[in-house]
Amino acid sequence: MRVGVLTGGGDCPGLNAAIRAVVRKCEVGHSDEVIGYLDGWRGVIEGEAVPLDVERCRGILPRGGTILGTSRTNPFKIEGATERALETLERDGIDALIAIGGEDTLGVANRLGLLGAHVVGIPKTIDNDLSGTDATIGFDTAVQIAAEAIDRLHTTAESHDRVIVCEVMGRHAGWIATYAGIAGGATVILVPEEPFDIDAVCAYLEHRHSTGRFASIVVTAEGALPAAGTISIASPELDQFGHPRLGGIGNVVADEVERRTGFEARVTILGHVQRGGTPSAFDRVLATRFGTAAVDAVHDGAFGQMVALHGPKIERVPIADAVAQLKTLDKDLFESVAEVFFG
Ligand code: F6P
Repeated sequence: MRVGVLTGGGDCPGLNAAIRAVVRKCEVGHSDEVIGYLDGWRGVIEGEAVPLDVERCRGILPRGGTILGTSRTNPFKIEGATERALETLERDGIDALIAIGGEDTLGVANRLGLLGAHVVGIPKTIDNDLSGTDATIGFDTAVQIAAEAIDRLHTTAESHDRVIVCEVMGRHAGWIATYAGIAGGATVILVPEEPFDIDAVCAYLEHRHSTGRFASIVVTAEGALPAAGTISIASPELDQFGHPRLGGIGNVVADEVERRTGFEARVTILGHVQRGGTPSAFDRVLATRFGTAAVDAVHDGAFGQMVALHGPKIERVPIADAVAQLKTLDKDLFESVAEVFFG
């Protein structure tokens, strides 16, 4: 068989581990040829690809980023691009295309599948907000990076008796904020799913400071929003998939906290640090399992399916189901675990 592979959307640690697994299983397990499309759907639209083999993939397992490059190109938003993408797959003799991506990249895979392309999906995104799977590649590493950063912020906050607001990624879902906030002992965690009341945030901080602790960490997801009628914030720009370019709510929260409580406040925006660098062991193993399982799906003719983690097992779910709606934060985790430690 001739198998294509691409990585689309925001990069994350573990993409190379997944590419390596796809290539290894194809070449050694099935004598398939593999080609990698460059920069996500852009490479398919423009017919830009490179041959991939085991030799080319040596040394990439622990490397962050993606050797194929990535982009947020959406063929359905560019005149004639869908037709060009399908022509490329035809011309390159691609029997199956493995798309490694989040809801946007796999949303495109799903739509191209309906137009006849043979696609299999692998779930990735540090945000962990893709449905149908317990975890996506990159989430574990991002949480680890954020939790380590929070540990460091604690010691400087304590030395200066400050509130430090740590802004983490997560535009529609508060998975990173909640996991890193629990792991890092945050005084309060703000997530997109629960609009926050700044008065309640200040009350948690004042309560903690009344017990003789004069330093606190507030963890906020970049997509956290103030409750209606509380604080107003500027509207962000949108990308090709209609997502806002975020970053900055941490500054708003820090300013309001300082103004309302008088506690000195600082802000740290972790940003793309969470997406860079070497993947955790968990993400390397998950990516390797997903990559090999995706090739099994290709050889079973299970097109239109995404490989997924369900408990200890890798299973398949329709890509259409995975992209139908976002996997937002588990309410019970937030209310029964995270909130217990607020204040
Ligand atoms: O891939 C998801 C994500 O990391 C979001 O958490 C974040 O809002 C976004 O990507 C940032 O995208 P970009 O790198 O295009 O600015």
